[in-house]
Amino acid sequence: MNHSIRLTINGTAREVDIDDPRVTLLDLLRERLDLTGTKKGCDRGQCGACTILVDGRRINSCLALAISFDGADVTTIEGLATNGELHPVQAAFIEHDGFQCGYCTPGQIMSAVGLIAEGQAGADPERVREGMSGNLCRCGAYAGITEAVIDAHG
Ligand code: FES
Repeated sequence: MNHSIRLTINGTAREVDIDDPRVTLLDLLRERLDLTGTKKGCDRGQCGACTILVDGRRINSCLALAISFDGADVTTIEGLATNGELHPVQAAFIEHDGFQCGYCTPGQIMSAVGLIAEGQAGADPERVREGMSGNLCRCGAYAGITEAVIDAHG
């Protein structure tokens, strides 16, 4: 049985039919809504590549059943830049080389945006590393990522 949910995605209201109650927010974004900036890594909540913001809080979208998010406000990497200007966290990742291959970068950036909004980042590298520990980078760009988050925190 089809069920429709309403989502606000990057500021735009969308109504989406859910034909399979097992579909995740990650697959909904990538396969139904063509928002492929959010990446699928492990698909089991371990790598953070799929991090998005729901109602301002960081979640692993691969673990989130879309059907249970009716009415949610979703922000993906595509929604960060405004009026052609990069979000300060995006700019800081470029400034500090906070990536290598780039696959984990959307998740890293969304996690950093959430962490800063939580007020949990600060300028302490140890706290930033702890706060970003759910986001893995197989290239090992952690030094640049930590510097970027501290810089963006301001
Ligand atoms: Fe969701 Fe790895 S793809 S945590």
